[in-house]
Amino acid sequence: MEQIGHACEEWGAFQLKNHGIPKSVIEELEMQTKRLFDLPKEQKMKALRTPDYPTGYGTVWITPFFQQRMWQEGFTIFGSSEDDAKKIWPDDYQTFCDATKKFQEESKVLIEKLIHLSFKYLGISEEEEANWIGNNHAGATQLNSYPVCPKPENAMGIAPHTDTSIFTLLNQSQASGLQVFKDGSGWFNVPLEPNTVVINTGDVLHILSNARFKSALHRVTVNSIKHRYSMVYFYRPIMEHVVSPLGSDNPRFRALTFKEYVAIKDKHFDKSLSIISVKED
Ligand code: SIN
Ligand code: FE2
Repeated sequence: MEQIGHACEEWGAFQLKNHGIPKSVIEELEMQTKRLFDLPKEQKMKALRTPDYPTGYGTVWITPFFQQRMWQEGFTIFGSSEDDAKKIWPDDYQTFCDATKKFQEESKVLIEKLIHLSFKYLGISEEEEANWIGNNHAGATQLNSYPVCPKPENAMGIAPHTDTSIFTLLNQSQASGLQVFKDGSGWFNVPLEPNTVVINTGDVLHILSNARFKSALHRVTVNSIKHRYSMVYFYRPIMEHVVSPLGSDNPRFRALTFKEYVAIKDKHFDKSLSIISVKED
């Protein structure tokens, strides 16, 4: 509990071993992720995401605001992946759906343990904790592919951002590339460690903790040698849930529904990202 609490305060991110997610669940999803992205473009485009239909295949939504070229393709899942997987593999979608479902179930169990420990660290009661897990939770899964890039210095896998989640669980598969920003020190590579998952604190936990926990600013770099894949699970509250600092006498944020928070973040993303990219240049 202490180690997790300190990591969330210092970095907003940490690597976790002995996390309890069976290796087979991660390996199976990794196989299905490769199977998906290695398909010809026309086949993936059958499950294309649009602003009105936010699941399926596409590039990350922050792309239009960033000046560097994005070198990424992704697949987004809210709840079940079945509808979108059927568009791609009408007769053979089940193995993909089973793999995503198992990953979601295991990630949810693990993150609920982390919520329990981090809330305890913050002195938040178990009655309050019950409002943030179980039925009030909504999961999202994101699979990412970053093909080998001939000029990695001119591109970014995913531009700097914070996650909108409570916690995010991330598996960087067989190639590193994820970097986390630390105030005053700059960007740090998150090294590849076998049998570990990367956990980062998202905006919601930053608010619930009244800014005691950081929401990790992170980005993904690309390389010219190895195709990189990653599998990510976001633990989020349902849209109607009210998000505000818990148990603080001096709240630094006003109460908002999660839906209002997401809308405000979308509106301001343009500005925050362009500031970051100017600094990097
Ligand atoms: C992300 O920030 O969601 C992508 C992480 C990764 O590919 O490592
Ligand atoms: Fe992220």
